[in-house]
Amino acid sequence: MNINPAHQVTGDMSALMVIFGGTGDLTNRKLIPALYNLIYDQRLPKHFAIVAVGRKDMDHEQYRKQIFEQLKKYSRNDIDEMLWKNLSCLIYYFKLNFTDSVGYEGLDIFLRELDNTYQIPGNRLFYLAVAPDFFETIVMHLHKSKMAAVTKNSWKRLIIEKPFGKDLKTARLLNGKLREVFREDDIYRIDHYLGKEMIQNILVLRFCNLVFESLWSNQFIDNIQISLAEKHGVGARGGYYEQSGAMRDMVQNHLLQIVSLIAMEAPINLTPDAIKMEKLKVLNSIERFSPELLKNNIVFGQYGKGIIDGHPVPGYQEEVSERSNTETFIAMKFYINNFRWAGTPFYIRTGKRLGVHAAEIVIQFKALPDILYFSNDTEQEPNLLVIKIQPNVGVFFQFNTRDFNTEKEIMSAKMDTSHTSRAQGNTPEAYEKLILDVIKGDSTLFSSWDEVEASWMIADKITEYGRRRKLNLPNYDAGSMGPIQSFELLARDCRKWWNI
Ligand code: BG6
Repeated sequence: MNINPAHQVTGDMSALMVIFGGTGDLTNRKLIPALYNLIYDQRLPKHFAIVAVGRKDMDHEQYRKQIFEQLKKYSRNDIDEMLWKNLSCLIYYFKLNFTDSVGYEGLDIFLRELDNTYQIPGNRLFYLAVAPDFFETIVMHLHKSKMAAVTKNSWKRLIIEKPFGKDLKTARLLNGKLREVFREDDIYRIDHYLGKEMIQNILVLRFCNLVFESLWSNQFIDNIQISLAEKHGVGARGGYYEQSGAMRDMVQNHLLQIVSLIAMEAPINLTPDAIKMEKLKVLNSIERFSPELLKNNIVFGQYGKGIIDGHPVPGYQEEVSERSNTETFIAMKFYINNFRWAGTPFYIRTGKRLGVHAAEIVIQFKALPDILYFSNDTEQEPNLLVIKIQPNVGVFFQFNTRDFNTEKEIMSAKMDTSHTSRAQGNTPEAYEKLILDVIKGDSTLFSSWDEVEASWMIADKITEYGRRRKLNLPNYDAGSMGPIQSFELLARDCRKWWNI
């Protein structure tokens, strides 16, 4: 069944994909494996080629050899020599210093030659897989060299990785610059969480199941919890992370995007504009954080040393920067002030070096009156709907039933449709879906400028508060589930984080 009939994309899919940052980590770990898996599944367009642009000195063959080694490490599918051959001959390397105007002229000539070879009418997908400091420089050079100019027969699209600005002010400046060159419809702001299977599935679960959607409100839902927990630390990205912290790294984008999908009203149809309009309304309805709310409803944390999977790991300050005030954990409680959600708290948390590596959404339904079956000695377990994003993918539902063994007691039954992505069908990676969508011109799973702007308004206030506040860090051990205050946040409301 086509789940998106209102939104068939029929444009010309032939394209040259130009990756700025061709030798970088993102290209190695995500983009090239995604392209390989697309060719593996026979989903790459017929007229298509890739130009990796980087500052290192290399020829095409050397580049291909280098990324092949990385591909072997990161591809979800086995490497088939024949398929790799087919893909590698579509991949080219172009050396360019991103600030060198003359270099862009050379790049333009090279791309035009490839247009002829691959019968591409000038369609371009410019992917900025570079440090954010280069976003503006590259876009301005694309403009000056006329490479970004749309013609009657060709499209030009820009994919931009996060961080989209460091705060509202810098995001607005960046957006202004991009919009001097690209139309809003041609700017694809990637939030890779939106490409994950279960995130895409949220709207289907909600709007294709009467049993869920009819209960999807403050009348029946007690609270909603979203946890994005990671076991790993910041690795080699300490420099970036010191500037971002968990708030800018995970909340401003991934977590708020998930909140907006969980809480939005049904769109009038499935076009990107209709969906984004409803998501934006959610972001604009999140309660404004007064100083009181900031103090009571936000918990910042930073990991100290600890043990993960039996191995000792250092604390953030030892790994990245002594006396750092950067948060590697954040938990928040807030309300969405609209008719559907007023009074139902949303609790969200994310952190690095936690004891569990998992992303899940827990919908806790309200309890029935404790009259018939539930008395002092029998506790009523609530109905829980859990949307498992990773590593397990699927849905879990908990409901009450008679315990046949004891004849009279109530037990909670657990229905779990989830599977590990490795175990069943090898779930496609987010980047595969997202790259293909850009080639098709489908922006549903990308953040609009309005959404980014609304998220920064929320994030700025919290970050500013966090930076001003004197925190006694580190305040949680690596391998735990975050600071004690995160548990207290829910305990105060007589609730608890459900285990993920
Ligand atoms: C990125 C963050 O956006 O998402 C990283 O910058 C984080 O810090 C990553 O580790 C998590 O993504 P995933 O897909 O591994 O859950």
